[in-house]
Amino acid sequence: MSTYANEYRRSIDQPEAFWAEQARRIPWFTPPNTILQYDDSGHARWYVDGELNICHAALDHHVEQGRGDQPAVLWDSPVTGGKRTLTFVEMRDQVAQFAGALKGLGVEKGDRVVIYMPMVPEALIAMYACARLGAVHSVVFGGFAPHELAVRIEDAAPKVVVAASCGVEVDRVIPYKPIIDQAMVQSTHRPDACVILQRQQQPAELGPIDHDWAALVEQAAPADCVPVKGCDPLYVLYTSGTTGKPKGVVRDTGGYAVALHYSMETIYDMAPGEVFFSASDVGWVVGHSYIVYAPLLRGCTSVVYEGKPVRTPDAGAFWRLISEYQVKSFFTAPTAFRAIKKEDPAGKLLAQYDISCLKALFLAGERLDPPTFHWLDDMLAVPVIDHWWQTETGWPIAANLQGLELMPTKAGSATVPVPGFDVQILNREGQQAGPLQQGSVVIAQPMPPGCLVGVWGDPQRFNSAYMAAYPGYYLTGDGGYFDEDGYLFIMGRTDDVINIAGHRLSTGEMEEVVGSHPAVAECAVIGIHDALKGQLPVGLVIPKDGFDGDELALEEELIALVRERIGPVACFKQVLVVDKLPKTRSGKILRKLLRTIADGKEYGIPSTIDDPASLQDVHEVMVHREVGAAHASRQV
Ligand code: COA
Ligand code: AMP
Repeated sequence: MSTYANEYRRSIDQPEAFWAEQARRIPWFTPPNTILQYDDSGHARWYVDGELNICHAALDHHVEQGRGDQPAVLWDSPVTGGKRTLTFVEMRDQVAQFAGALKGLGVEKGDRVVIYMPMVPEALIAMYACARLGAVHSVVFGGFAPHELAVRIEDAAPKVVVAASCGVEVDRVIPYKPIIDQAMVQSTHRPDACVILQRQQQPAELGPIDHDWAALVEQAAPADCVPVKGCDPLYVLYTSGTTGKPKGVVRDTGGYAVALHYSMETIYDMAPGEVFFSASDVGWVVGHSYIVYAPLLRGCTSVVYEGKPVRTPDAGAFWRLISEYQVKSFFTAPTAFRAIKKEDPAGKLLAQYDISCLKALFLAGERLDPPTFHWLDDMLAVPVIDHWWQTETGWPIAANLQGLELMPTKAGSATVPVPGFDVQILNREGQQAGPLQQGSVVIAQPMPPGCLVGVWGDPQRFNSAYMAAYPGYYLTGDGGYFDEDGYLFIMGRTDDVINIAGHRLSTGEMEEVVGSHPAVAECAVIGIHDALKGQLPVGLVIPKDGFDGDELALEEELIALVRERIGPVACFKQVLVVDKLPKTRSGKILRKLLRTIADGKEYGIPSTIDDPASLQDVHEVMVHREVGAAHASRQV
């Protein structure tokens, strides 16, 4: 049996023994006796009686082990011109100091803290400071609008909000304070305090509950690590589901720490002292796991990048960072490389840098499309690894395991299930699909350590959203298949979730916003293929009877409304007013068919359609308005 096959079998056949062994690799205050337990709903709980603190495991422990002077964080910000190095000692001390500041504001174990910050070291400091106190952080991505922030504040009910005065995009400074103020107005929950990191690009005017980060820290006494149970929550991270209300994915502490540590070694092949660079954002799960926690847990250095793959200043930015910081493993989303490829197709900028330090390139967030894979594979002398995962799992479900046994790559495949994940494909009837048969990708219970342990404030939603479809299995929401060699191909979501530039968004949520406009009678938002961002949303709208306004003006208003309610990150820039939406006789909008047309594929008229003419009408409007590749679509 190959090394991978052996490890994988052991993880599935003897999960407790396997994960007991892995748990010994991280420092606990009290090592767990109970490795795996099931709660009343049958969900796996790992290490319930172990005691640890992830901040201790990632910072204090490494200082105690003699890594104090090694850089923990290398911050590089071409948008502000800033660069900073923070060693493990400096991180530990600054985190302890900020934890003291939060403690002074009344934050205790179990309290929530919402963090709304750009890619600055203080974002990591704030997250670790919460962890140090046993408080639960909930980081909100800076590209979300006040309404989205308000929804999260309402749901998480934080004692304190920690924010920066502004974020800096390529072409503009985004003041965060007005966004926070509006969110506070929209939410019925009132935090006790708000801590603002003043950035020189645009300092904020402070209000009655606001505290200046620097002044607060100066007066604070450093706080020690509070021991928490292995199953205690570390964070809540909201992600798009199929409804307008985002799901607060709850992550535990012990299982997460063990899983991340294991992944750093087995998947990413990282040893202590080496440099890891994940070009994501702390607002996403990739940022939580592979910018903030995993590299430091493993004693590695993490590059924190406040910039873009292109335009800051050019498409050579990643190559510069890899070379300058001697990065061993690099991780980003395929969309970033599509942007680079567009500007530098021949890789001329790559030739300017020595990136011989790089040993592997990892991609996730969306499927690594074969053209981008081949472009990278031809250009780089290292493995180009597509790996598949989601906010809910917190770490990769399928990958080519660089640190265990590298397999031959197949373009379009995320390779094989990672040890711990019993991945299966089920058909509509719930039966196992054979090789090459597409179906729902599910994970048999128990899920390995590190995966979600609940939906914040809504225990039923864990069951209804993930466990109800196929009892005994976690529903990933993705469709896909295994080939004859056991390689897994993930082909896209089977629900209303779409993936825009590696960002997960819900068309259902966009529909709710569009439908809330007083002039809209009915609408559908579909995700269509986009060569750069993977997918883009398009809205189809029927105005209310009697609407006699300007249709183009209505379209503009709807675009502005989604930007205002969800945020610029939704990239909602195309709306079409139509007379009718194609529906089944039972009234279900034929969204999949609309997507097929917009993507320029052949389509047939389903027998269940209520009014075939409505489909032709929408097709004509799409062609006229140059939506996607609708012009190439053909009815067969
Ligand atoms: N704060 C405020 N606004 C933000 C933001 C943030 N943190 N991040 C993005 N936005 C805004 C952008 O400025 C843009 O606004 P615009 O409509 O006024 O132009 C909008 O949200 C859309 O952003 P984005 O989709 O990122 O488009 P872009 O054209 O700025 O950049 C890419 C395109 C491909 C370079 C960029 O999307 C990218 O780097 N993607 C990689 C994503 C990634 O790492 N995902 C993590 C998963 S691993
Ligand atoms: P998120 O929760 O934001 O990480 O998004 C998770 C979703 O992104 C998954 O359910 C997939 O639909 C998609 N995804 C992430 N990585 C991959 C990948 N490597 N291949 C295919 N789809 C992916």
